[in-house]
Amino acid sequence: MIIDCDPGVDDAVGLLLAFASPELEVLAVTTVGGNVPLEKTTRNARIIRQVAGRDEVPVYAGAAQPLKRDPAGAGEFHGAEGLGDLEAVEPDAPAAEGSAVEAIVRMVMGAEPKSVALAVMGPMTNLALALRAEPRLAERLGPVVVMGGARSEGGNITASAEFNIWADPEAAAEVFASGCEMVVFGLDATHQVRGTEERIAALEAVGNGPALTAAAMVRFSQRIERDIVGWDAAPLHDPCTVAWLLLPELFRLKPCLIEVETGSELTRGHTAVEFRVDPASARHLWAVEADGQGVFDLIAERLGAIR
Ligand code: BDR
Ligand code: CA
Repeated sequence: MIIDCDPGVDDAVGLLLAFASPELEVLAVTTVGGNVPLEKTTRNARIIRQVAGRDEVPVYAGAAQPLKRDPAGAGEFHGAEGLGDLEAVEPDAPAAEGSAVEAIVRMVMGAEPKSVALAVMGPMTNLALALRAEPRLAERLGPVVVMGGARSEGGNITASAEFNIWADPEAAAEVFASGCEMVVFGLDATHQVRGTEERIAALEAVGNGPALTAAAMVRFSQRIERDIVGWDAAPLHDPCTVAWLLLPELFRLKPCLIEVETGSELTRGHTAVEFRVDPASARHLWAVEADGQGVFDLIAERLGAIR
């Protein structure tokens, strides 16, 4: 798989889960400007790669800004440096030469059809640019597993939009219309995966560096969630993508057609999730249920096995 992300406290946990899972071959991590600017998301991906002891996996920097909009930012939910309270030290290994977009095209087109999954944990700018450069990617990619969008839960950045889709709605609209097979974890599912005190304590009890780092990410989110949103336990969004690749039975999905609003400022980035489709030909699947305890158990088990 390739992981396209904007770490981000929850991206960081998603990266750790993938790095810790031997059945997933992580070909590359690609970064995008999102929660914090590109320079920081790229550095943060390198920090997390180092925590997992996986410096051999290349990290490619991608788009610094959305296709048409000004760069957004969600520093209030991730801390000024993007990894909560974790000290943003300069990691040992550098980013790879070359761009994320070029790397995605090269790796996917060079592999067996459908053998490379792409997890998208941030704004979809890199994938949109890759599809513009090589439209055959849509047929070639394995599932595109996305964290983004909102239906019954409503939005988390505006009344109707979720952050990743809102940040670059034009990119998301292009990707959803591209023909890619997509499995989408919007807020309807990720709000069912919450870092309760008990679940954070279970991660802390694992005790190794990766688990303590993941626990610190979730604990930071919990504090912010209490301060800003008023909920006791914060949702853990991005790791749902990796968790589904590992244990799909943790989620219930429904075939659908997803389109993204780009024309209106009021509903910018709204995901219209249409279930009235022919299930046999539907290219999109929308997660309606998630087993939150199962996701946290999986993370604790996998991170605990990192030596
Ligand atoms: C998404 O937005 C970001 O802030 C998180 O990392 C996640 O990808 C949740 O809306
Ligand atoms: Ca993210």
